[in-house]
Amino acid sequence: MKVLVATEKPFAPAAVQEIRKIVEANDYELVLLEKYTDKAQLIEAVADVDAMIIRSDKATKEVLDAAKNLKVIVRAGAGYDNIDIAAATANNVVAMNTPGQNSNAVAELVFGMMVYNARSNFNGKAGTELRCKKLGIHAYGNVGRNVARIAKGFGMDVYAFDPFVSSESLEKEGIKPMKSAEELYKTCQYISLHIPSNKETKESIDFDLLSKMPKNGVLVNTARAEVIDEQGVLNLLEARKDLSYLSDIAPKRRAEFEEKFASQILFTPKKMGAQTAEANINAGIAAANQIANLIKNGDKTFQVN
Ligand code: 3PG
Repeated sequence: MKVLVATEKPFAPAAVQEIRKIVEANDYELVLLEKYTDKAQLIEAVADVDAMIIRSDKATKEVLDAAKNLKVIVRAGAGYDNIDIAAATANNVVAMNTPGQNSNAVAELVFGMMVYNARSNFNGKAGTELRCKKLGIHAYGNVGRNVARIAKGFGMDVYAFDPFVSSESLEKEGIKPMKSAEELYKTCQYISLHIPSNKETKESIDFDLLSKMPKNGVLVNTARAEVIDEQGVLNLLEARKDLSYLSDIAPKRRAEFEEKFASQILFTPKKMGAQTAEANINAGIAAANQIANLIKNGDKTFQVN
């Protein structure tokens, strides 16, 4: 049995080593395709593999149709919007994610970006502090929970909106529940975005919602670029010079943002929220174990299709 690790943005070497150990302990063969530059390379690599592990790599219908022997595909990470789920199901391929494994890494980056912004991009001028500021967590999943934990250490006042999490459970954790996204954005100077990308959330973070933010509002996006209405944010940054947009997933119109709003934005050079050795090892090990457990025991925990 062949297990392909296809990562345009490679795992840390220690993570690959851990994946290899698990794969070889099960007498499977590991095939590595790292830093590929063309979809054709991925299509060629999947031709004879039984299982595959990916990150944000695009598992399109074309890729899945080319993977004739594929039984399982694991997205080593949380968001599986990069897998064509309908195509996986049609091809009898089990699709899985590894929820929670990289969430601390993403949450730590949120604070890195917020501190950098609050301290005037480390330019030596006086900045501000995070303590006592209101932080709104938009979607309280694994990353949101880690953001809340760290925010408490910073002495922030933590709020959250998540239609799937009860007010009681948020209150128990010392978090103020909000009834709607509008209420959250109206209340909090800082917003940390953790909604998944899907049909419902596409471009849902728009001008109307963001214009509710208080003075000196900061939107931090370590989720997905697709949930942002780019034109809306461009219009907003023009209309509200006090607002900032910090994102780990650069917008399509990055150059335009940089040209017009350099002092209001911060974009990482490449999506790096989950790019730590620890997160790679955690997610890589989980992915390899999930494949072995499915093949040996039919264990479908974390199946998403
Ligand atoms: C996730 O959904 O787990 C994160 O967005 C991480 O994505 P990456 O594996 O491409 O860094």
